[in-house]
Amino acid sequence: MEIYIHLPFCKAKCQYCDFNSYAACDSATIYSYLAALCREIKFAGAQYGRAKIDSVYIGGGTPSMLEAKQILSVCRVLNENFDLSGVKEFSIEANPESISEDKLAAYVEAGIDRISIGVQSLDDRNLRSVGRLHDRNTALKKLELAGKYFKNVSADLIIGLPYDNAGLIKSEIDELSDLVSHMSVYQLTLEEGTSLKKRADEGRVWLPSDDEVAEFMDIAIDALAARGFERYEVSNFAKGGEISRHNMGYWTREEYIGLGAGSHSFLKTADGCAPLPAEIRFSHPRDINAYIGGINCVDSFDKIPRAEISVLNKTDILNEQIMLGLRTTKGVKESLLEGKIPPELERFFIRADGRIALNRRGMEVMNGILVRILML
Ligand SMILES: C[S@@+](CC[C@H](N)C(=O)[O-])C[C@H]1O[C@@H](n2cnc3c(N)ncnc32)[C@H](O)[C@@H]1O
Ligand code: SF4
Repeated sequence: MEIYIHLPFCKAKCQYCDFNSYAACDSATIYSYLAALCREIKFAGAQYGRAKIDSVYIGGGTPSMLEAKQILSVCRVLNENFDLSGVKEFSIEANPESISEDKLAAYVEAGIDRISIGVQSLDDRNLRSVGRLHDRNTALKKLELAGKYFKNVSADLIIGLPYDNAGLIKSEIDELSDLVSHMSVYQLTLEEGTSLKKRADEGRVWLPSDDEVAEFMDIAIDALAARGFERYEVSNFAKGGEISRHNMGYWTREEYIGLGAGSHSFLKTADGCAPLPAEIRFSHPRDINAYIGGINCVDSFDKIPRAEISVLNKTDILNEQIMLGLRTTKGVKESLLEGKIPPELERFFIRADGRIALNRRGMEVMNGILVRILML
């Protein structure tokens, strides 16, 4: 079982971002949110606390924006209510501008052993153009500082930003590869409702074409391989086997409890402690105040108001196994796809040892392939 904790606060909203995050919240709101979150952790602990927790992930938003003592108290409540003795990975997300030595030391004290830093680009024009609050030098300095406290440091990069070019992508990977053991490399998605999408639609920002982005991604994958980073998922690369165990759990359909506004949970009927049908996904309301109100008006985990609940039938489960498993380079058991791959799509797959996975070209066109095979 895994635990995800959502801290939805940011100093400013980045122009491309549609994650559940809120800019410029006052300290009273943050305080009420953390109180509700701790209350939810206690309810969840009463319900599932006997479950063995394999990994914890504190994500956002910008968890590093909170004071060190706030993170410490959330981790203390988590520790008091769950058995964390078998945790193999405990991650936190951080933005360069809000990382400090005091906070890093507090994270280590809280048991956190992995930090994921949102670098996005090492070009100041890119960073400014999408509203990031840090510059290239701050990112490099904070990555180096994080390396003094954590063996396992990850950096996020976005490909497809306004000033990207082939040379920049290669040099970003080269510079970052000495500072981290893991990289997540995402292609920019122009999300509906974001200010970047609006600017792009109005022709007020130039963005690289799809072909250019595909070329940049190829350059990134080659540069990562040359630096010893093995691709293990569509967007994720690890050196020395330092994969994100937590995220791998999502793709291999491990159970997880999501705590905090907008977070999602996935539970199977685990060791009889869940009063739930076979496999179920549910989420919290995204809005901070709706979340706080929902937690404060109940007295147990099962009464918490849910935004969405879906009970999975056999077909849903099979489709999820295929969709999530094919994101990874390990792929899925060959038997799962028996009779489902049209002959013209065979060239996008690799088969070995009873397993089947997408090859590099297959990963590029994964969504189109999934639509075809899930229909069969
Ligand atoms: C939960 S988000 C944000 C984490 C952290 N607050 C930050 O900004 O660095 C995790 C990652 O998703 C990626 N991301 C967010 N929005 C994206 C978008 N529209 N397209 C591509 N990647 C995106 C960014 O690389 C980001 O670091
Ligand atoms: S990308 Fe990160 S810092 Fe920017 S708005 Fe989204 S969650 Fe906040």
